[in-house]
Amino acid sequence: MEREAVAQIAATFGWHEFLGHLTGGGTVANLEALWVAGRLKPGKTILASADSHYTHKRISAVLGLPFEALPTSREDGRIDIAALEQRAAIGDIGCVVATLGTTGTGAVDPLPEILRLRERFRFRVHVDGAYGGYFGLADNLTPAARAAFDCIGSADSVVIDPHKHGLQPYGCGCVLFADPSVAALYKHDSPYTYFTSKDLHLGEVSLECSRPGASAVALWATQRLLPLVRGGEFAADLSSSRSAALELTRRLSEHPRWLVPFPPALDIVVWAPRAGSAAEASAMSQKIFDRAAANDLHLALIRLPARYFEPGTFGQPEETGEGSVLCLRSVLMKPEHAAWVGEIFDRLMASSD
Ligand SMILES: Cc1ncc(COP(=O)(O)O)c(C=O)c1O
Repeated sequence: MEREAVAQIAATFGWHEFLGHLTGGGTVANLEALWVAGRLKPGKTILASADSHYTHKRISAVLGLPFEALPTSREDGRIDIAALEQRAAIGDIGCVVATLGTTGTGAVDPLPEILRLRERFRFRVHVDGAYGGYFGLADNLTPAARAAFDCIGSADSVVIDPHKHGLQPYGCGCVLFADPSVAALYKHDSPYTYFTSKDLHLGEVSLECSRPGASAVALWATQRLLPLVRGGEFAADLSSSRSAALELTRRLSEHPRWLVPFPPALDIVVWAPRAGSAAEASAMSQKIFDRAAANDLHLALIRLPARYFEPGTFGQPEETGEGSVLCLRSVLMKPEHAAWVGEIFDRLMASSD
């Protein structure tokens, strides 16, 4: 069941010959992908965007690999390609992590451009699609996000979390490698493992040894009910989450009280209250967050670089250029969100009067 369920995930980005298995979650899956990167490019640096999941830095430290964060672009929170090119030209890059759906803002790194730089600089490319990996099935992506999802199949490894957008309870991540021969890296000669068949044994090609089978059964059953195909019911829910995010963005952008730094690439919306300074906007976000919760509207908070907003938005550009602003954040990941956007916006307004 694990093999079949993982093969269906791989098929969404066109892989039929690959190595992949389920994991306890996204962090372990990314650990495994970067472990393989480190085995193939020993001692070389791991690069990821400053908005990538914080565990990439920690994982690199666990693996004893140097880690560097790349700046993100002001316009959309994606990896700054010019900065990547400059850094790659200096050399010693083992792997670039492209996040397709950053945890904070849902930004989709420019994978086509990263893959083009791979041709010149020969680093590995790992896609962290733990949050956003399924969105390639949606039918309402921006052209830039569409282009990124359309070339996932050219990456060296991919992580996607069924326990995020794949409708699974916690305990279900997935890591996949384009080249099945990386299996050789897992070879060991322990005297106490034995097998009753010569088939590929997933416990022998994963960092974790014993794992529960329940997550494989649940994922397999879910994918039987809701196949991972474009135009299907599962895909329609992803598109609906995205429509909900676009609708909330439209309402926020049209109201003078709010500032949206950039439109969502997936289903995560971030915004700030308009204010005279970053400190004032931050204090207002905190207050609105608390009052919204009391109104049963459960938002999130995220501290974003002030440079994500138009220069001068919060006072003089030179005052906020290096600063940050506490923003409000909403993840519209449930099918019900599309029908609730109006109510969400009304409660937000009522919480900020
Ligand atoms: C992009 C991304 N990568 C990795 C992770 C870590 O995944 P997990 O919490 O399943 O270990 C997350 C979690 O939110 C994530 O959003």
